[in-house]
Amino acid sequence: MDTNKTTESTVNEDAVRSALQTALKEAMSDSREAEKAAPAPAPAPISLEEARAALEAAKEREAAAAKAAEEKEIADAKAAKEKAIADAKAAKEAKAAEAKAAKDAKASEAKAAKDAKAAEAKAAKEAKANKKAAKKNENKPEKQAEKKSAKKKADDEPKKREKVASDAFIEFKDVRKTYIMGETEIHALDGIDFKIQKGEIVIVVGASGAGKSTILNILGGMDNLTSGTVIVDGEEVSDYDDKELIFYRRYDVGFVFQFYNLVQNLTARENVELATQVSKNPLDVQDTMIAVGLESRENNFPSQLSGGEQQRVAIARALAKNPKLLLCDEPTGALDYNTGKSILQLLQDTARKSGMTVIIITHNYALTSIGDRVIKVKNGRIESVETNANPMDIRDVEW
Ligand SMILES: Nc1ncnc2c1ncn2[C@@H]1O[C@H](COP(=O)(O)OP(=O)(O)OP(=O)(O)O)[C@@H](O)[C@H]1O
Ligand SMILES: [Mg+2]
Repeated sequence: MDTNKTTESTVNEDAVRSALQTALKEAMSDSREAEKAAPAPAPAPISLEEARAALEAAKEREAAAAKAAEEKEIADAKAAKEKAIADAKAAKEAKAAEAKAAKDAKASEAKAAKDAKAAEAKAAKEAKANKKAAKKNENKPEKQAEKKSAKKKADDEPKKREKVASDAFIEFKDVRKTYIMGETEIHALDGIDFKIQKGEIVIVVGASGAGKSTILNILGGMDNLTSGTVIVDGEEVSDYDDKELIFYRRYDVGFVFQFYNLVQNLTARENVELATQVSKNPLDVQDTMIAVGLESRENNFPSQLSGGEQQRVAIARALAKNPKLLLCDEPTGALDYNTGKSILQLLQDTARKSGMTVIIITHNYALTSIGDRVIKVKNGRIESVETNANPMDIRDVEW
């Protein structure tokens, strides 16, 4: 039997192989189809321990999920609470702002009402006053205007005084100035009398401490006197009150000092302009700058000018006010010989040209020859008053 089989096998070997291959192919194809169609294979049976472990793991996962859910819930609740607080705060603020705005509006309304009422009352009062004034001055409006301008003038300027009799432009009568220093009295001026005529050049000489500056300061309304009388242009300056003195210094007196006293942060021209602004009847600034020979330096500051130039600015400043009196306290005291001489020449020429009364204090007795009048002062008293019929020109004086 076996032999037969072997034989058959050998005989049909190729056919069998082909059949087998076909069958195998079909079987594989069926198995893939079956795999596709067949339901999932039943899980493999597990042991008890494995089941327990799986259960534990499932529990843990469940607990972790529950915890996460709880935490999320807490966070959500917290966020919601914060939002509610913020919303409440914003609402409160909005309400407060609203209340404030309402309050402000009410207050401004009240203020406006009050202002309107006040304005109304003021207008009514003014109208009443105007009506009264109009009624009073019905037929004389020009008189009303006159009165108004007179009142304004009285506010601005002191009222004019009655003229006092004097045969001189300037007169000092028994003028005394006493300083009390503890127990001692210093008689800076001890009974001074002199007269000066209009347009004169007057030289005041005397030793240091004689009282020269005190005389000039009293004459210029810069110092008050202890007793006596000072008359200038028919007015009793020694009787002036403070307001009258201000106007006297402002309009009637020009001062030139030894150390110039310029405003350092103003140019030469501005220093002069400043003086003209407080003057009633000033001279032209440009003309004055030319007159003192400073037209090319008018834009320089005092610190950029020499002493002589600065004194020229100071003279221009005093002259530009067009004063009645030019008072010079040692105007060449800080200058060298030639510069001092040119300054004196300027003063002399100006006085001659303008007819201005010029008073010059000096220590230098050589200068007495240029004065129309020479007043010598000694120990607070007048030593002498002399007049020069033919005063010298400063150009011809040497010292
Ligand atoms: N404020 C004061 N207090 C006390 N004494 C004063 C005062 N001012 C001036 N004197 C005194 O008055 C006197 C006259 O002084 P004043 O300045 O008039 O002299 P002066 O002739 O101008 O002198 P100088 O040539 O030195 O300028 C001097 O004895 C001075 O000491
Ligand atoms: Mg002096």
